[in-house]
Amino acid sequence: MAAAPVILSVLLLPLLLASGDRYTVGDEKGWNPGVNYTVWVDKHRPFHIGDWLVFYYQSGMADVVQVDNESFVKCDASHPISNYSKGRSYAFELNETKRYYFICSYGYCYQGMRVSVLAHPLSPPSPPPSGDKSASPPAVPTVSAAILAASGAILRLLF
Ligand SMILES: *[C@@H]1O[C@H](CO)[C@@H](O)[C@H](O)[C@H]1NC(C)=O
Ligand SMILES: *[C@@H]1O[C@H](CO)[C@@H](O)[C@H](O)[C@H]1NC(C)=O
Ligand SMILES: *[C@@H]1O[C@H](CO)[C@@H](O)[C@H](O)[C@H]1NC(C)=O
Ligand SMILES: *[C@@H]1O[C@H](CO)[C@@H](O)[C@H](O)[C@H]1NC(C)=O
Repeated sequence: MAAAPVILSVLLLPLLLASGDRYTVGDEKGWNPGVNYTVWVDKHRPFHIGDWLVFYYQSGMADVVQVDNESFVKCDASHPISNYSKGRSYAFELNETKRYYFICSYGYCYQGMRVSVLAHPLSPPSPPPSGDKSASPPAVPTVSAAILAASGAILRLLF
């Protein structure tokens, strides 16, 4: 049974890494034509490093193409940074502090099927003083720290 703590630690690791928030692009409307994603971004920002954007779309009816700012403006999917079209959903992690641009290459971009989000650094030096309804619960880092401490304790038991 000596392997059990190792397995437990391995199982805990994704929990430690995936501490960001998950945002369903378009909320219940998903990644589809006819959704105003500017409104969606305004509702959910600020986004931070470690957050995930989850795109839900109809299979074979849409893709998710990450492009640069110029291609975003032009709805040009010919020089993608990344693209994804398999299945019915795609989860993308905002892993850098920068502005991300996503479009659909199936022709719906011109009607607004494009979204741009700015990923902010994780720990802003000073939180905004005004009431911020979108603030993520500070308990998350604490829980992560607790799990980390628990993992450390488990690992120490091994050696
Ligand atoms: C895209 O970004 C580059 C570099 O930041 C900038 O020089 C350029 O003006 C931007 N283009 C558009 C269309 O926003
Ligand atoms: C997406 O990527 C695949 C393979 O990486 C490529 O064949 C395809 O042309 C790309 N599609 C777009 C719209 O860039
Ligand atoms: C972010 O993710 C992309 C795609 O997986 C990868 O190419 C890039 O190196 C990552 N950046 C950092 C800072 O980890
Ligand atoms: C989205 O909504 C905003 C605010 O109502 C509006 O200014 C913008 O033109 C809309 N965009 C599209 C593509 O309809």
